[in-house]
Amino acid sequence: MTEQSKANAGMPGNGQGPAVRAEKPVYDPAAPAAIEVEHIVKKYGDFTAVNDISFSVKEGEIFGLLGPNGAGKSTLIRMMTTLIPITSGKARIAGHDVSKEPNAARRMIGVIPQALTSDLDLTVEENMNIYAKLYDVPAKQRQTSIDELLGLVDLTKWRDAQTKTLSGGMRRRLEIARGLVHHPKIFFLDEPTTGLDPVSRVAVWEMLGNIKEHRRLTILITTHYMDEADRLCDRIAIVDHGKLVALDAPMTLKASVPGSNVIEAQFENAPADWEERLHKLDDVTSVQHEGAGMYRVLTGNGSRTTTQLVEMAVQSGVQVKSLSVQNTTLDDVFVHYTGRQLRDELQKAYGFVMPQRPGLQP
Ligand SMILES: Nc1ncnc2c1ncn2[C@@H]1O[C@H](COP(=O)(O)OP(=O)(O)O)[C@@H](O)[C@H]1O
Ligand SMILES: [Mg+2]
Repeated sequence: MTEQSKANAGMPGNGQGPAVRAEKPVYDPAAPAAIEVEHIVKKYGDFTAVNDISFSVKEGEIFGLLGPNGAGKSTLIRMMTTLIPITSGKARIAGHDVSKEPNAARRMIGVIPQALTSDLDLTVEENMNIYAKLYDVPAKQRQTSIDELLGLVDLTKWRDAQTKTLSGGMRRRLEIARGLVHHPKIFFLDEPTTGLDPVSRVAVWEMLGNIKEHRRLTILITTHYMDEADRLCDRIAIVDHGKLVALDAPMTLKASVPGSNVIEAQFENAPADWEERLHKLDDVTSVQHEGAGMYRVLTGNGSRTTTQLVEMAVQSGVQVKSLSVQNTTLDDVFVHYTGRQLRDELQKAYGFVMPQRPGLQP
């Protein structure tokens, strides 16, 4: 099976896989497509940043692009939003081919780039106003739209504050509000919560939920936070090294990983063959040694494996220092499809200084 067919194999709508999560609007394959990407490729010289990716996002869907740094998420967004030329393949926004009708495509979209772009010397309201003028929002509608959006992102009482006095989370919320001032139908957000503290991240999620309920929007969001993708998105595309490796509803993705529970346990005095012995316990589908005596065990039966694991430790004189049993997460999905831990990838990436590249050239 190719990567692409593997990625599409579990797509809801083709009769495979369990139903998507009940609390979310169910992915409707019959809804019109807001975004269609077909065999899209981006090359920088000899380097292929995006390698033959296809997917389509239905109207009203929240679609997540999930992947480590350098996976090609921003490059994909830049191509879909007409900011850089496509090397080969196609992207259509509300039916408009971005290469042939860039202006028509642009009229449909709002874009929040990865870097913060609000003007620090202007007030919150001035930042909104400047954008509204840039997008030709008629004067009469401007104030109503700004009032509504500042309310939705909970910044009404900060409207006269200078942007430089805002926290990172508030600035992000201002940029999200600003990106909607011209009533786009399709909203692209590139890592809107990267660098925010956990409380601000949750505030941004809640706010996106509010906005989506208030305005009928299609949202494409990139992130490297698994919990965020899980909570927010109707469907998720996992991207790695420029390729699409899996695409489905979060529940279906989790169900596609063999094993339904994850046991994380830390041992003291574990012998050299411990990993192998853990693997031999009933129902265990995979074992990862994470260093410092820490093991991550995927199993189809959490309670039985836990019992056997503790018995084996007692018999072998190995001390169990900590143990937790959880349901499978998107982290496990990532490991399953890429063979690597996303958090290791991020640590590697953040081990270097990663300056923003202003003025990225196509
Ligand atoms: N203008 C450019 N020139 C050369 N390489 C680039 C350029 N922009 C991005 N890349 C490379 O393409 C790959 C994907 O980058 P990017 O789309 O920014 O990834 P992500 O957003 O997933 O972190 C990276 O290896 C990056 O270094
Ligand atoms: Mg990026």
